[in-house]
Amino acid sequence: MSTDVVLCKIAELPDGAVRHFEIMGYDLAAINVGGTFYGLDAMCTYKWANLAEGRVDKERMVLVCPACKGSWDIKTGQPVDRPAQFPLTTYAVSAVGDDLVLSFTY
Ligand code: FES
Repeated sequence: MSTDVVLCKIAELPDGAVRHFEIMGYDLAAINVGGTFYGLDAMCTYKWANLAEGRVDKERMVLVCPACKGSWDIKTGQPVDRPAQFPLTTYAVSAVGDDLVLSFTY
């Protein structure tokens, strides 16, 4: 099933930012790169770091783990730099009026 969830106002996720949201018990990260929005699982499967506390590398288009610097492709969720090993689920995030809306599939 899928449902659309309003995360926040667009202005609350500036360019280059990553922010944590909990939706139905799932930890998700929303990211803004140049006005395009992305959604990923926020919990690393290696040591359970909160990736929403990590860093957005806009040049490489990766989300960098705050604990050990592993990284994932922001668009695809695929691991890029070790020790990241397993892909993260991605979610569509879009601007609807002033709101940021994530399509949550479960
Ligand atoms: S703790 Fe998971 S990659 Fe760093």
